[in-house]
Amino acid sequence: MAEPKKFNCEAIRADFPILKQTVNGHPLVYLDNAATTQKPNAVIDAISHYYRSYNSNVHRGAHALADQATEAFEASRTSMAQFINSPKREHIIWTRGTTEGMNIIARAWGEANLKAGDKILVSHLEHHANIVPWQMVAKKVGATVEPIAITPEGEIDIAAFKAQLDSSVKCVSFGQVSNALGTVHPLDELIPLAKAVGSLVIVDGAQAVGHFEIDVQALGCDFYVFSGHKMFGPTGVGVLWGKEALLESMPPFLGGGEMIETVSFSGTTFNVLPYKFEAGTPDIAGVIGLGAAVSYLNSIDRKAAYEHEHALLEYTWEKAANFDGLIRVGQPKVCAGVFSFLLEGTHPSDVGMIIDQQGVAVRTGHHCTQPLMSEFGLPGTVRASFSFYNTKDDVDRLFGALNKAKTFLL
Ligand code: ALA
Repeated sequence: MAEPKKFNCEAIRADFPILKQTVNGHPLVYLDNAATTQKPNAVIDAISHYYRSYNSNVHRGAHALADQATEAFEASRTSMAQFINSPKREHIIWTRGTTEGMNIIARAWGEANLKAGDKILVSHLEHHANIVPWQMVAKKVGATVEPIAITPEGEIDIAAFKAQLDSSVKCVSFGQVSNALGTVHPLDELIPLAKAVGSLVIVDGAQAVGHFEIDVQALGCDFYVFSGHKMFGPTGVGVLWGKEALLESMPPFLGGGEMIETVSFSGTTFNVLPYKFEAGTPDIAGVIGLGAAVSYLNSIDRKAAYEHEHALLEYTWEKAANFDGLIRVGQPKVCAGVFSFLLEGTHPSDVGMIIDQQGVAVRTGHHCTQPLMSEFGLPGTVRASFSFYNTKDDVDRLFGALNKAKTFLL
């Protein structure tokens, strides 16, 4: 692999065509990266090239284009395995995204392994995708889902977590980075605690992969799930990574083509990993596009990119501290990419609407984290979320737009 280029924000911005436009008459300030990241030319071109030049199904054809499609599809798996330091490429299962990955684990592993009396722990900070699948499996098998308490700063309360851990805890599922507050959880401390009572550990990496490097082996989790579109790849494609013994022992989730070895009316045998979990024609263009996103990220100095993002967050916190009526929501010690806040006396959706008129895109509302919002007693927040292509000027524009919102709403 070639050495990454020196980080240069302006050069990176030039790779993202969408950032050049005006929205509502103003140059776009895109601060909704936690919802989805923008796509570089390399990703857009890889998808377009597939459809223009070698669109074919994978693993099935006996012709040149099908071979080319299969080769590109499987090359993405190899580069993704290297990207997250998977011991084998066969441990990378293509999914539609984090939500599907979580549902596969809850259904295929959970239904086969959880029973009445077992406990599943998830924190109050989790995205609905890391709560609802567990509630569904718990209801089926008679297990319970217990929330892990959080602190007023928006971090996992480690003492409370320790007190919950005993041999009835069979599964703990953490988001690595909170989509609502940006909290980066100390997984190096939390995972060994869960492992010590014999629990399985799942990590939802949706909000982490776009910000810093991931090493699934160093993390020591059992499963790791994420979405391509939060790491500059296309929507509709993601990854479920799991330890081999677990993936081998789990029954398939969907039945159909590709996931079988033999089918007859007297019985069906299943394909090997990873295909056992990849029934049906996959999102071939999506996987190829995601492979291009991995190559793009590999070409960037990611440590410098993270430092750039972090400097933007610090600049934002500084400006926020001097902005009358702005209430920051969550003050985690380690934070990646997210600034959640309220403007006193206003509703988050009104703020979002007014700043959108000035070309500033943020997300408002509960951010699919209703238990967190009710824990904080809030209807929602305004969330500005950053990526490495954002600039100080974007932050200045955000605060300029907030000033206007204040004049208009108060
Ligand atoms: N989970 C995405 C978000 O946080 C959609 O906005």
